[in-house]
Amino acid sequence: MIDLIEKLPKAELHLHIEGSLEPELMFKLAKKNNIEIPYKTIDDVKKAYEFSNLQSFLDIYYAGANVLISKEDFYDLTWEYILKCVDNNIIHTEIFFDPQTHTSRGVSFETVISGIKEALEDANKKFGITSQIIMCFLRHLSQEDALKTLDEALNFKDDIIGVGLDSSELGNPPSKFEKVFKKAQENGFKLVAHAGEEADVLYIYEALDLLHIQRIDHGVQSIKSDELMQRLKDEQIPLTVCPNSNIELKVFENYKEHNIKKLLDFGLNVTVNSDDPAYFKGYLNQNFINLYENLELSKEDIVKLVKNSFNSSFIEDELKQKYIKEVKLYEG
Ligand code: ADE
Ligand code: ZN
Repeated sequence: MIDLIEKLPKAELHLHIEGSLEPELMFKLAKKNNIEIPYKTIDDVKKAYEFSNLQSFLDIYYAGANVLISKEDFYDLTWEYILKCVDNNIIHTEIFFDPQTHTSRGVSFETVISGIKEALEDANKKFGITSQIIMCFLRHLSQEDALKTLDEALNFKDDIIGVGLDSSELGNPPSKFEKVFKKAQENGFKLVAHAGEEADVLYIYEALDLLHIQRIDHGVQSIKSDELMQRLKDEQIPLTVCPNSNIELKVFENYKEHNIKKLLDFGLNVTVNSDDPAYFKGYLNQNFINLYENLELSKEDIVKLVKNSFNSSFIEDELKQKYIKEVKLYEG
């Protein structure tokens, strides 16, 4: 089964590019850019990656992102992730980036997006990997700040397929961002949001009914409401679940407690993703392998999860059908 997991062509729909910053590149960029980081050795970094909840991770994740300064840095960051896509047989990826994490430090929006974009274009030329870019608003900041960021993004409209919402969930409900999501929708952006990662189902309802999102990032708390579960099933709203992340951030006590198999068996449109793989002990295949080893996923489950990702992606229809055909070769 591990062989099947590795061979299956896959799509990834929930990946923060800043969360793919491996300690080795962090050290290299810190030195090059003369930025202080609170670690002396790679071992120190690995020891620091012990999290008790989402916030304890975010504090370390934002500190790590400080080493990213130039367009070349964003290119290198993205290119390293692309090499992981090759290893993991990811043929389509939709990556998140957090512009405010960088613009607040004086790094321009253009520097960030142009570095990411150039690496993704080279990934297509060299490996045939297709991709989309989704810009996330930081929910611990104000809606005013998000609106300013959206205005800047309009200058790069052709490079960004959608907007999302991430960072500290508890205390920052989707309702705080109704206006900016409405404006993003009017400008033709696709809409997604992190909801129900740590916070309860009210946040998922708000994301659906006030922000009108097309995919829920995480959404694992849905299981607490029978009514919501039925709605997600009826409407086949995609959930981009990130198993390793949920374990590392203590959303579930251990892998055996993870609810993805229950969500899948109920008929929800669930997908598997790596979230911040440099921080959460592994890329996409490792997430699938951990699920398989702990939750007894069948071959049908794994193929279904992979098909769900392609079906829930923002790829145009013709290419989507081509990719799904490739996955179907592994059925039966
Ligand atoms: N930013 C990066 N990873 C995140 C996560 N899992 N939840 C919220 N914001 C994030
Ligand atoms: Zn995330």
